[in-house]
Amino acid sequence: MKATHPMQLSDVFTHYSGDLRIVEEHLEKKYRSYIDLIPGIAAHIIASGGKRLRPLLLIISSDLCGYRGERRQVLAGVMEFIHTASLLHDDVIDHATMRRGKESANRVWGNTASVLVGDYLYCMAFAALAEDEDPVVQKLLSYTTTVMVEGEIVQLVNVGNAAIREQDYLTVIERKTAILISACCAVGAIIAGASQVQVEALSRFGMKLGMAFQITDDTLDYVASEKEFGKAVGGDIREGKITLPLIRTLTKCSAEEKGMIRGILDRRAASAGEIKGLLDVINRYDGIRYALDMAGRFISEGKKNLESFEDSIPRQSLEALSDYVLERRL
Ligand code: FPP
Ligand code: MG
Repeated sequence: MKATHPMQLSDVFTHYSGDLRIVEEHLEKKYRSYIDLIPGIAAHIIASGGKRLRPLLLIISSDLCGYRGERRQVLAGVMEFIHTASLLHDDVIDHATMRRGKESANRVWGNTASVLVGDYLYCMAFAALAEDEDPVVQKLLSYTTTVMVEGEIVQLVNVGNAAIREQDYLTVIERKTAILISACCAVGAIIAGASQVQVEALSRFGMKLGMAFQITDDTLDYVASEKEFGKAVGGDIREGKITLPLIRTLTKCSAEEKGMIRGILDRRAASAGEIKGLLDVINRYDGIRYALDMAGRFISEGKKNLESFEDSIPRQSLEALSDYVLERRL
């Protein structure tokens, strides 16, 4: 389909609303269980206003490569299950209290229940992949989830490490976040029977988009209001997690400022006033701007991978989603 006007984000959701509705039905059907706790927790997190970015990327990528069959919604659901499982585990690891503007599942039901329901969703996802019977997709997603856990482990190893290098941070976010977003785009192309060149182009597009996504997430941790972002502000440093705005600041700031930052990292606690003071230091060294500029470069590099595809609704949709990642407030 030839498109004459660039798509806006709302157009993307409208255009793919039918697909997303089918994905929702698949999700809901799969987590139904006679054990009340499973749909209780699963619905709490799945039906809590997630943006469905990953399912959407898979569906749009398959559309871009000319596929409109049933596997796209099934596999889009698998991606959301993997993502949701990782969030349930992540909130336990991060001692989170809020997710998407609501109390996080670990806060409501406790760590054990969150971990187990996360395991359940993860197993459901791989059961659906077994039923789908595509060894290429199975191999890619087994690899992807393994790498995600590696990313979390590298992050864990670096908790509280004020000497963490930018390169280590980039390795963490590529693994914990970008790899799954990349896989969504690649799977869309694979099920469409696209050429290896196209699969790789979409895989690279997703990787860059995912890098930008996590960098903006880490920036919003400092600058968004809790109401907009739906997560506690300043949560990362309280957990000893040192992200790009802070890494940049640590390479530039004075010994005294570094001492203040190390104090928060060592105590793993900060009052709202201390977070405000920290933000002043970060802004003094342009830490937020530095991070957002880098996210912008990832988005530009990502979009370059779409140039070999003809101008179309799906291509413009991927471009609109790329722009959204830079502008988002939640
Ligand atoms: C959010 O990061 C977390 C991730 C992107 C990945 C979490 C992955 C695991 C816990 C590994 C287990 C994986 C599976 C497949 C079960 P964040 O804490 O920076 O973002 P947040 O602010 O949204 O919490
Ligand atoms: Mg987290």
